[in-house]
Amino acid sequence: LTQHILSDTIAARYYIDIMTEISPLEKINSNFKNKDILSLDQFSPSDLKKLFTLTKKMKTIAVNAKPSDILKGTITILLFFEPSSRTFGSFSAAIQQLGGSVIAFQGMGNSSAAKGETLEDTIRVFEGYSDAIVIRHSEVGTAQKAANAATLVPIINAGDGIGEHPTQGLLDMATIYEKHGRLDNLTGVFAGDLLNGRTLHSTIRGLSLFKNNTLYLLSPKQLQLSREHYNEFTQRGLKLIEITNEKDIPANADFWYWTRVQKERFKSLADYEKVKNKFIVTKKLMKERAGKETIIMHPLPRVGEIESDVDDDRRAVYLRNQIRNGMYVRMALLALILGKA
Ligand code: NCD
Repeated sequence: LTQHILSDTIAARYYIDIMTEISPLEKINSNFKNKDILSLDQFSPSDLKKLFTLTKKMKTIAVNAKPSDILKGTITILLFFEPSSRTFGSFSAAIQQLGGSVIAFQGMGNSSAAKGETLEDTIRVFEGYSDAIVIRHSEVGTAQKAANAATLVPIINAGDGIGEHPTQGLLDMATIYEKHGRLDNLTGVFAGDLLNGRTLHSTIRGLSLFKNNTLYLLSPKQLQLSREHYNEFTQRGLKLIEITNEKDIPANADFWYWTRVQKERFKSLADYEKVKNKFIVTKKLMKERAGKETIIMHPLPRVGEIESDVDDDRRAVYLRNQIRNGMYVRMALLALILGKA
């Protein structure tokens, strides 16, 4: 799988450019029904408000033992060309919480694609059986390509290489909103693999919709946000402060968002070893740099960049609310897209 991954950001950005040139992203514009979900750029603050209000209702449905039939009679297909457990499980659970059916394929790269079928054909086949398709792929732009090919059903991007992971971005924002009651005037820290981490590409894009947000970006030089991303987000009004030392983490940030160094995006293992786990959340670091209300987030899986004895701290939300919000947000999003809410 890793061999045909576009780890070269410039090639990846170029690919995004040509794809979006063909089909500009469709804005939600307060109507989610039948829309593809490809990027956080499709949302406005009021679209997010609508989604998060419904997300709260979905939480009550999920914790309530009574089954819901909001998505009854719908079929959602999960087409995963790249490994996943969390996102895959979260989508499956979200659909089943609402009484919908799921047909799920993991390891798609080993089946029809391996026989040489084009992505377009795969999409045209599966849209015939379903009401929505969720796709994950190792190449940037694949969800857009699938959306271009689909004529009947909406496509949801569940991660396209180092591009975006919009539903993760949405759940991250829902988690910040739940804790702090706002998405503007925030100070946050993003740490780890800012170059290749698609989740944070979506989350930062989402935060750029709001005023007065300051983000500290902590990473080794090699894993800095791409200059294209940096310039784009700065132009949108985000204040980005790049730091390479934990000592420069601001006191009392509203959130820390730690990420895994994306091993599978590296051309060589030696390059990965040089930059992995440079920054680790420890109890000591929390004591020195975190505030009372700083939430500690991570998209998971973590592979050593947050020590496990931090888990019990009430500020650590990665194995608690952040995970659960993923299911609630996906429930809300699917209900809206399928026209059931
Ligand atoms: C992330 C992903 O797949 O991009 N996982 C997830 O969906 N929660 C993060 C990662 O793999 O590091």
